[in-house]
Amino acid sequence: MGKIIFIEHDSTEHVTQFDEGATLMQIAVDNAVPGIDGDCGGECACGTCHMIVSDEWFEKTGKVGDAEEQMLSMTPERARTSRLGCQVQTTKAMDGMTVQLPEFQM
Ligand code: FES
Repeated sequence: MGKIIFIEHDSTEHVTQFDEGATLMQIAVDNAVPGIDGDCGGECACGTCHMIVSDEWFEKTGKVGDAEEQMLSMTPERARTSRLGCQVQTTKAMDGMTVQLPEFQM
């Protein structure tokens, strides 16, 4: 169990609890974090789970896969540390991580 802090575009913070192995998208949806729709259910096919990981945490989220890279390349507001939340499985090392949400999703 750990916590992930999601920060909306207007700086509203949502502190959530997670069990290791859940994806960032699932954690956001389970906690009704606004702006994370997860329309495709985590299949890396919709891009509605775009998140921007804080610089200092980005390496802990692992590698961006090919399918994810393709989706991110079409994502407005893409940043250097962008991830699709459904492609990031949480680990204990992510306890306390902060994740910024974009103003708009695809
Ligand atoms: S939930 Fe659809 S791409 Fe992540």
